[in-house]
Amino acid sequence: MQVEILTIFPEIFPTWLTTSIIGRAQKKKLVKINVHNLRDWATDKHKSVDDKPFGGGPGMVMRVDVVERAISEFRFQNSDFRTILLTPQGKKFNQRLAQKLAKQKQLILICGHYEGFDERIRRLANEEISIGDYVLTGGEIPAMALIDAVVRLIPGVVGNDESTKDESFSQNLLEYPQYTRPEIYKKMTVPKILLSGNHAEIKKWRKKEAEKRTKQRRPDLLK
Ligand code: ADE
Repeated sequence: MQVEILTIFPEIFPTWLTTSIIGRAQKKKLVKINVHNLRDWATDKHKSVDDKPFGGGPGMVMRVDVVERAISEFRFQNSDFRTILLTPQGKKFNQRLAQKLAKQKQLILICGHYEGFDERIRRLANEEISIGDYVLTGGEIPAMALIDAVVRLIPGVVGNDESTKDESFSQNLLEYPQYTRPEIYKKMTVPKILLSGNHAEIKKWRKKEAEKRTKQRRPDLLK
C-alpha cells in the first residue's frame, strides 16, 4: 500500500512513521507512507495555504487550489489513488471501514485544518472520514489513527494474522479477557480453564466471554 499524507504540519509525523508496527511495516515494504507539506504547492511568495474567509469571520480557510495541485500531481502518477478528507463532518470511522480501506493500493489523506477549509475541497475527495464525535485541532491525529488501524490489517504486518481476526470489533464482538504470568497476582487468579490445556474448551470459554463482555459493555454492537 502507498499512502500520501497532505498536511501543513509535516513535522508531526516522523517519529510515529518509524516506530513500532508502522515502522516495521515500512521496513518490510508492506506499506510506504509519504508525508508532504501542502506549502510545496503554494504559488505566491508567502507560500500561503490559507486565506481569509469570504463574507468575513474569524480564522483562516484552507485554499482549494493548493490542495488540488497536490492531489493532481499524485493522480497524474497513478489514477487509482483514493482520496480521503479527514473532517469531523465525515462518515464515522470504524473497524469495517478500516477493513475496506486495507484492500486499497493507493490512498491520499488530506488533513483538514481546524479553522476550516474551502467547501470546494470536499469535491476533491472520494470520501470524508471522521474518527469520532469530537473536534481536534487538525486532521493529523485522525490521519495517524486511520493509517494505524488500516495498516495493521494488511497481511504480514501483524505477526500472526489470526490475532487481527479475533480482536475487538472484528466480528462485532469485543475481545475475550487475556492473562499471562504470574498465575496469581495480589490474590487475583487466572481462570482455571486457561491452564487446562484443553483447547476446544478454551475456545468455547473465550467465545462465551467475548459475548458476555460485549453484552455488558457494548450492547449496541450486537444489534
Ligand atoms: N479534524 C478535526 N477533528 C476531526 C475528527 N474528529 N475526525 C477527523 N478529522 C478531524
